[in-house]
Amino acid sequence: MTPTEASTRAEAICKLAPVIPVLVIHDAGKARGLATALVAGGLPALEVTLRTDAALDVIGEMSKVPGGHVGAGTLLTPDDVKRAKDAGATFGVSPGATDRLLQACEDAELPLLPGAATASEAMRLLERGYTVQKFFPAEANGGAPALKSLASPLPQIRFCPTGGVTLANAETYLGLANTLCVGGSWVAPPDMVAAGDWSGIERLAAAAAALPR
Ligand code: 3PG
Repeated sequence: MTPTEASTRAEAICKLAPVIPVLVIHDAGKARGLATALVAGGLPALEVTLRTDAALDVIGEMSKVPGGHVGAGTLLTPDDVKRAKDAGATFGVSPGATDRLLQACEDAELPLLPGAATASEAMRLLERGYTVQKFFPAEANGGAPALKSLASPLPQIRFCPTGGVTLANAETYLGLANTLCVGGSWVAPPDMVAAGDWSGIERLAAAAAALPR
């Protein structure tokens, strides 16, 4: 898969809803219920971070939920790419980008949303063909004003800002010309996941899905 094809696929994922939930799940037993609630609330694209022992099983379980598009986040190495793909992930997300990681995703035909925090990082990715990128860590890196500042010199690139994004500040990002969607963990609070509060999470998802963009 070429970087251009990957970006086309990543753009389609980003356009499914205003928010991609970023999920850090420790218990695969929660996966089906959580994914069902998020999809029912209107958030079909789900990023399962590879930060827990359960993550690969979570991807497998969530992939069985109708209407969901399950990706793997926190991809750092070629081995992560292989494990994510084998588990059923249909897209990948990374906090930054290395040549090895990009090559691994291209070889594995796994569309990647690669992370960039600076103009130079974004330009390096653009040079390779990645026109859809994750702006990370969004809030710590200057937030919406910083992302807006990239739109004028780099209009070819569109972003999914992630990191510190909340229901309160998401709309500002979504109003930017270079933002396709945002990523955030607020729609799946750990205490609600632990309690299996699926109706509560569906309400959070619905509020996120209703954000204008
Ligand atoms: C992360 O690093 O987990 C993601 O960027 C999500 O960040 P958030 O918890 O601030 O939404």
